[in-house]
Amino acid sequence: MNEILDAEVIQKGLTTSFLGKKIYAFGSLQSTQETAKRLAKNGAPEGSVVIAEQQTAGRGRFGRTWHSPKEGLWVSLILHPKIPSQKVPFLSLLTALSVTEAIRRTTSLLPTIKWPNDVLINGKKVCGILPDLETRENNSNLVIIGIGLNVNQSDFPLDLEETSTSLHLELDRPISKTLLLQELLLRFEENYIIFLKEETMELLEKIRGFSYFIGKRVTVDLKEKVLEGEVIDLDEEGRLVLRLDSGLIQRVVAGEARLVR
Ligand code: BTN
Repeated sequence: MNEILDAEVIQKGLTTSFLGKKIYAFGSLQSTQETAKRLAKNGAPEGSVVIAEQQTAGRGRFGRTWHSPKEGLWVSLILHPKIPSQKVPFLSLLTALSVTEAIRRTTSLLPTIKWPNDVLINGKKVCGILPDLETRENNSNLVIIGIGLNVNQSDFPLDLEETSTSLHLELDRPISKTLLLQELLLRFEENYIIFLKEETMELLEKIRGFSYFIGKRVTVDLKEKVLEGEVIDLDEEGRLVLRLDSGLIQRVVAGEARLVR
């Protein structure tokens, strides 16, 4: 199924109050992140959404490329949250929560959240999240949240085959990208409003319930060193709380975490 995403059709079934009121839909783009940044700088309002059928230079975390064929859902959200910069990283987890909830509501699948930026199904990555931040004075930030969701791919390139999956592969049938995007925008808006009201504990409880890592042993690559320990919690700033073998408790803001098998 090659479903063309149409801004008008998406908006017709959208019940959000501000997210997606403006949708910029493209056929092929280098990256929705770069286009969203440009649109934001030219005045695109809070809650604008940029989508592309496919990306020719999709960007992943750590400077990696993101495989973005036409079967996937490639989205960037433009936000201007008036929050202190240390609260911005929580938006990644909030996005992962919203993706998880949207998949759970539109399918029978049970995804989990892999701190800080991934959503997994049966241990394989179905969604990656890329927050691009520009913090400014007086808490006026520009945040572009990139969401790459593997929806209807029926295969992956060899280097991704072992670690990636799609909703189609998991369900053995294609699903509607339009319905999924509508649900995702609704879930995100609800969670974002809760976040702006500083009721983060409510979100954190849900995130903890879907967490892939809590109670497991992991390594976290911090570039300058690698930590190893048991994940005992996620805190209210979205940090991973690790108990190192020495007994020391360490809170990690960002890094690449892997299960120790
Ligand atoms: C990751 O490395 O896990 C993050 C992947 C993020 C991919 C999305 S697709 C939409 C947006 N545009 C991009 O170029 N990247 C993000």
